[in-house]
Amino acid sequence: MELLLCSLVFLLMAALVAHGRDTDLSRDSFPKGMVFGTASSAYQVEGNSLKYGRGPCIWDSFLKFPGATPDNSTANVTVDEYHRYMDDVDAMVRVGFDAYRFSISWSRIFPNGIGRVNKDGVDYYHRLLDYMLANKIIPYVVLYHYDLPEVLNNQYNGWLSPRIVPDFAAFADFCFKTYGDKVKNWFTINEPRMMAWHGYGDGFFAPGRCTGCRFGGNSATEPYIAAHHLLLAHAAAVKVYRDRYQPAQKGTIGILLDFVWYEPLTYTTEDEFAAHRAREFTLGWFMHPITFGHYPETMMKFVGERLPRFTEEQTRLVQGSADVIGVNHYTTYYVRNYDNLTQMSYANDWHAQLVYERNGVPIGKQAYSKWLYVVPWGFYKAVMHVKEKYRNPVIIIGENGIDQAGGDQLPHALYDTFRIDYFDQYLHELKRATDDGARVTGYFAWSLLDNFEWRMGFTSKFGLVYVDRKTFTRYPKDSTRWFRKVIKNEE
Ligand SMILES: *[C@@H]1O[C@H](CO)[C@@H](O)[C@H](O)[C@H]1NC(C)=O
Ligand SMILES: *[C@@H]1O[C@H](CO)[C@@H](O)[C@H](O)[C@H]1NC(C)=O
Ligand SMILES: *[C@@H]1O[C@H](CO)[C@@H](O)[C@H](O)[C@H]1NC(C)=O
Repeated sequence: MELLLCSLVFLLMAALVAHGRDTDLSRDSFPKGMVFGTASSAYQVEGNSLKYGRGPCIWDSFLKFPGATPDNSTANVTVDEYHRYMDDVDAMVRVGFDAYRFSISWSRIFPNGIGRVNKDGVDYYHRLLDYMLANKIIPYVVLYHYDLPEVLNNQYNGWLSPRIVPDFAAFADFCFKTYGDKVKNWFTINEPRMMAWHGYGDGFFAPGRCTGCRFGGNSATEPYIAAHHLLLAHAAAVKVYRDRYQPAQKGTIGILLDFVWYEPLTYTTEDEFAAHRAREFTLGWFMHPITFGHYPETMMKFVGERLPRFTEEQTRLVQGSADVIGVNHYTTYYVRNYDNLTQMSYANDWHAQLVYERNGVPIGKQAYSKWLYVVPWGFYKAVMHVKEKYRNPVIIIGENGIDQAGGDQLPHALYDTFRIDYFDQYLHELKRATDDGARVTGYFAWSLLDNFEWRMGFTSKFGLVYVDRKTFTRYPKDSTRWFRKVIKNEE
């Protein structure tokens, strides 16, 4: 009996080790010099949203309507990285990460979007950068991650106006001038598609505009106008960097694009074309202009007069405006040909429907977030699509990760085997892509901490590190040890 029990315990432990810790991945699995890090954004981690001179951004007012988040939470405090950045950098060092991708809050630097500079804000990013550099954590810095200064939204409707372009370029200029000796990896805008679609297409994100939304809007036109200005603002910032700073500072600059892999539901011409449209209306919306100087033909055909056009001068600015492409990837969906004639909108312009199972078999295991299915093979296809369709650009994976329920408590919340499985499988697919020639120079897991997940509030946790919501103490989850093994090649 005792023997039986012993062998059972042994078997159980062996299974746990095999499941949780062991991996055949290491740094040597990937191209030499590839950096590993985690990603965050200012609004989700800094807290102190109206302190130390920061001006409000569109999310501060957007979150005030009842039911904005399931737990009625705000980002007023979130995980307080503003004060606890040293803890967070220390945590990165302990895992062995090389880099940290964070964003600068525009309204912390310029409370009114332009003009007066807030010295407290400027100093904060100097403190963060100095501590990172002292600890050999390489900064990857994003200038815009959904947090438009409220003033610019009130003055001219933010991304709907061409006035945003010079204002963003001026903010970017200030950041290059102020931090450029410390930062060699710049990104202009994170996920412009999410800004355009959720901000102006379905109203899910600030500023909450869409046809029939409480804040007004037009889902058939505004997403395209916003995206146009996001692209022009990106290109204007890149021009500033290249003309005035890059020759001396010798950094690179790029953009971060979200990209779900879209697989045809059936391999019929109709569904193949629907999946093609889905890719063109998402990644292609931005990648096509940046690579070829114009929007995808499919979009021009299906959106017609509602799609803005670039002037010749704008084409010259936009085409080639990225040294590196950031790809944020989480999941994969099936797509089928479908005409939704209920309402003219960006989402319905695809003439496609997303489907989550084929012949009754789900596309993958569902994460806590309903939109996130675990489909490792889609990662390979997504990266290879970027490589093959857009002239083999230098790529970083800007985000990749999986969430658990916000209600998970200590210590159970730390046993994130499902997250280890996700990273293990997805990184194997990334290895396959780099073996096949994709030029990936960096990989960033989303996210270091359980932080403020926008409309999910704190009900969804993507962190490798758990944060106690009362004391703000950080507790590393099992996935940090798995990453350490891969990165450091040790137990
Ligand atoms: C959070 O900040 C908003 C402004 O962004 C403010 O209206 C609200 O009162 C704050 N809530 C708390 C609990 O401090
Ligand atoms: C959120 O606030 C509303 C009232 O504004 C309340 O009815 C609801 O129960 C609250 N939800 C939670 C999870 O606290
Ligand atoms: C059709 O479009 C409407 C309005 O955008 C949307 O609410 C609905 O979910 C769509 N239906 C399908 C099946 O996609």
